[in-house]
Amino acid sequence: MKRQPLRLAILEATRILEQAGVASPRTDAELLAAHVLGVERGRLPLIPLVDPPVIDAIGQLVAQRAKRVPLQHLTGWAALGNITVSVGPGVFIPRPETELLLEWGLNLLKGRELPVVVDLCTGSGALALAVAHERPDAIVYAVDNDSTALAWARHNADARAELGDTPIRLYSGDVGDNTIFAELDGLVDLVLCNPPYVPPGGELPPEVIDYDPAQAVFASEGGLAVLRLAVATAARLLKPGGGLAIEHDDSHGTAAPAVVSARKVLTDVRDHQDLTGRPRFVTARRA
Ligand SMILES: C[S@@+](CC[C@H](N)C(=O)[O-])C[C@H]1O[C@@H](n2cnc3c(N)ncnc32)[C@H](O)[C@@H]1O
Repeated sequence: MKRQPLRLAILEATRILEQAGVASPRTDAELLAAHVLGVERGRLPLIPLVDPPVIDAIGQLVAQRAKRVPLQHLTGWAALGNITVSVGPGVFIPRPETELLLEWGLNLLKGRELPVVVDLCTGSGALALAVAHERPDAIVYAVDNDSTALAWARHNADARAELGDTPIRLYSGDVGDNTIFAELDGLVDLVLCNPPYVPPGGELPPEVIDYDPAQAVFASEGGLAVLRLAVATAARLLKPGGGLAIEHDDSHGTAAPAVVSARKVLTDVRDHQDLTGRPRFVTARRA
């Protein structure tokens, strides 16, 4: 069987994905090829020729991606901070939008020893596990109310612990339960939260509508219902000087900070943009 140029296979994959309306066709084509070959994307230029079965395998994944199956469901992983987590059906895929929120949280922890951190709405566990990876001395709690998401989080937490990260404490619960983490009232250094926040009826790409769980994406009250609950819980949990960072819809650049400011114990309320310059998360400190 004649070996074929990988470069041409990637060009063809890019063309197919572009036609299918995929947002980043070249990147996705390269990541799928790298996945099939079991190499980092940056090493692809070192592989000029590949066997026909490799071309077939890339073609099959590209066909699925062209049907708008999320890239991360095809590769099985997503990155946040300096870790990757496993993702698939039934769990929200961590997004680059959350990177700066994570960075803000890690900065807040600088100089604090044995900090207590809570990740509300943990999904795959990505935020909690990314913090535990950077801060082995942190005691990290995480909660979600969805059993499928929690199964993914458990799997990811076990995998990170196997790699040597400090284990996180994973709970099933609702952020609207005003007894959740009651034993931590007034003791928490940092609350991070990426809640569902898209207003119902909002237009979203097929990758989100068909694959992200609806309860991970949409929230009632114009997208603010879970954010409100999370802010109330954070206000209770934080110690004086502790910090909150909570992600929001890009249409909530005014509304989300207003929800936070309404809690008089939360001060220094600021809104922040994501990597694309859109309003994306609000931060505050416990007075
Ligand atoms: C946008 S996803 C965020 C997942 C993860 N933090 C991340 O950034 O990838 C929101 C998560 O909140 C969970 N969730 C929704 N409503 C909740 C509630 N009332 N209490 C606890 N978790 C909730 C969903 O199951 C979902 O896993």
